[in-house]
Amino acid sequence: MAKVIKSVESMMKLSDGFRKKGLSIGLVPTMGCLHKGHISLVKEAKKRNDIVVVSIFVNPTQFGPREDLKKYPRDMKRDLKLLSRYKVNAVFFPAAKEMYPNGYGADVEVKRLSDKLCGASRPGHFKGVTTIVAKLFNIVRPDNAYFGEKDFQQQVIIRKMVRDLNMGVKIISMPIVREKDGLAMSSRNTYLSNEDRIKALVINGSLKFAKMLVNSGVRSSVKIKAAMTKLMRTAKGLKIDYISICDPETLDEKSVIKGKTLIATAIYIGKTRLIDNIVVN
Ligand code: PAF
Repeated sequence: MAKVIKSVESMMKLSDGFRKKGLSIGLVPTMGCLHKGHISLVKEAKKRNDIVVVSIFVNPTQFGPREDLKKYPRDMKRDLKLLSRYKVNAVFFPAAKEMYPNGYGADVEVKRLSDKLCGASRPGHFKGVTTIVAKLFNIVRPDNAYFGEKDFQQQVIIRKMVRDLNMGVKIISMPIVREKDGLAMSSRNTYLSNEDRIKALVINGSLKFAKMLVNSGVRSSVKIKAAMTKLMRTAKGLKIDYISICDPETLDEKSVIKGKTLIATAIYIGKTRLIDNIVVN
């Protein structure tokens, strides 16, 4: 079984020891309920670092008051078993009080980028993400940190935080891992009933359709969004939160598709919010 560390102090000591020995550290931050997407990050981290630390922490500050913090899937036993298979060196598994003790008062926020796309409908979400990731970086002090491209905006914001605050951590993002039928892997997929799971396929379907339209010469974002919306509306009960066609670095909306472009979407099926994206060139 992987070594589980629950206190910030012990994690810092362990990391310091690794660093003193000249060992490189790769960090995979997660909220647990691990799936193949997380495992792809672990495998990459194993390839490129002497030491791999996986953090498991369902971070309360990145959930809005009406979001799914309480019911977010947790299965530490299964996660640990899985991580042992990949021989990670340590699993950092702190309690909420350990990360946010009484009187805690510091936030890290990346302005502007955090208000777009998912940030528009989840105010404060990215402030919670950047705060916890900054804390994890300070505690583990990794050389490299690994994030999945399903949360495309998240990794853009984290890169900006690292750049602006000179954190000296290399951010490595890995491609989306999909189920055989194209659904992007997500811990939140566990919320879906069989019927909703089928409806959810329209998300990836609409992104693939958008890519096909771009490849066939359509350049108007309005037209692409209209085509995606029409396709998504075929799934009864699915509500579109947003469809964004934007620059993959600034996340500024593009009216005309030119150069590398991110097409990202968030939808609700019942109370379950799912995101997915594709980059077209
Ligand atoms: O992507 C996630 O699982 C979380 O947002 C992260 C990066 C672990 C921070 O809590």
